[in-house]
Amino acid sequence: MTSFHTLYDSSPDGTWAAPGRVNLIGEHTDYNDGFVLPIALPHTTRVQARRRDDQVLRLYSTQGGDERPVVLDLRGLTPGSVKGWAGYPAAVVWALREAGHAVAGADLHIDSTVPTGAGLSSSAALECAVAAAYNDLYGLGLTPAELALTAQAAENRFVGVPCGIMDQMASMCCREGHALLLDSRDLTMRQVPLDLGRAGLSLLVADTRVKHDLADGAYARLRAGCEEAARSLGLPALRELSPARMPAALDRLPARLRPLVRHVVTEQTRVEQAVALLEAGDLDGLGPILTAGHASLRDDFGTSCPETDLAVEAAVAAGALGARMTGGGFGGSVIALVRTEAAETVAAAVDRAFAGAGHPLPRTFTALPSPGAHRAATTAG
Ligand code: GLA
Repeated sequence: MTSFHTLYDSSPDGTWAAPGRVNLIGEHTDYNDGFVLPIALPHTTRVQARRRDDQVLRLYSTQGGDERPVVLDLRGLTPGSVKGWAGYPAAVVWALREAGHAVAGADLHIDSTVPTGAGLSSSAALECAVAAAYNDLYGLGLTPAELALTAQAAENRFVGVPCGIMDQMASMCCREGHALLLDSRDLTMRQVPLDLGRAGLSLLVADTRVKHDLADGAYARLRAGCEEAARSLGLPALRELSPARMPAALDRLPARLRPLVRHVVTEQTRVEQAVALLEAGDLDGLGPILTAGHASLRDDFGTSCPETDLAVEAAVAAGALGARMTGGGFGGSVIALVRTEAAETVAAAVDRAFAGAGHPLPRTFTALPSPGAHRAATTAG
C-alpha cells in the first residue's frame, strides 16, 4: 500500500473517518420526508488530508487500482466530469464551492473497509470523510447535518444519483451504541439506545454480493412514482398521509402507484413501532417488524430480488428473530436479528441456501452500532 508520505512527499494535516451504515427500518421513506432508523457500521472510510493553497485536488485510493494519484484542477470541475470513485471526493469539494465556501485544493489519501456495491453506503462514507476533512482543514464550522446535506448535494448534482438524505446523515450523525431516528422532513434526530449485547442479541449483515443492473434507473423511477402519488393526492410528500386516510387515498390513485403508497405508509408505522419497542427495552420485538418490512419491500415496493428473499427466508427459518434487505435494494445486503448463540447457525443456513441455489456465498459479519464521522488519530505515513 502506498503511503501518504510516499505519494505526496509530506505528512497529512490529519485523518478523518466516516462509516458505512445499515438501516434497521424505514426503507425508501427518506425521499418521502419520512422517518429512518439506521446505525453506523464499524467499517469506515479514512481520509488522510493535507490542505493546499492552490486549486489542485490530488486523490489517491488504496482501492482505486492506480499507482499514482488522480490530479484535478478545481476550476475545471463540472457535474459528471469525473468518473469512477474519484467523482465522489471531487463532488464534495465542488458542492462546498457551489455553496459559496472559499475552499481550495488538498492532497487526499483514501483507504476504506466499507464493502463497495453492497448497499452499505460506501459512497456516503467516502463523501462524508472528505466533507469532515475539508470542514476542519478550512475551518468552515459546518454542523454534521450541514455536511451531510453538502454530501447529498454532491451526489445528487455532481455524481447524478438522486439519493435521499439517510446515508449521509447516518454516516455523519450516528452514535456508538445507538440507532439514529431521523425525521427526513426537517432533519430532527433522536439517538435511540441500542445495546444488543445486553439483550443477548447480534445483528448479522449478509452481503449477498449481488447488484442487479436495474438498480440506478429503478431507484429514480420509484422515487418519481412516490412523488407523483403525493402530487395527485395534493400532499407535499407521502409522509403526510396517515394510515387512517390511506384506504380512501388508494382509491383515488392509479393501480401502478398504490403499492408504492402502501409501502411508504406502512413503513412509517413500522419505524414508529420499532422505536417504541427499543425505548421500552423490547429488542426481541424488533424481529417481526424487520420481517414485515421485507415483505412490504418484496410485495409492494418491488426492491427485493430472489437472492435477498432467499437470505431472509433462510435466516428466519434457521431461527433469526427477523430479517430484511437493507438499503436501496436490487441486491446488496440483508440484516438478521439473531440471538448471539444462534448467529453461526443462522449464517451457516444462509450459506447453505445460497450454495444450494448456485449463488456465490454471501459475505457475513456482525455489526455493532458504531460512531459517525470523526477526526481520527493519524498513523505514521
Ligand atoms: C439508498 C439511498 C437512500 C435511501 C435508501 C432506501 O441507500 O441512498 O437515500 O433512499 O436507498 O431507503
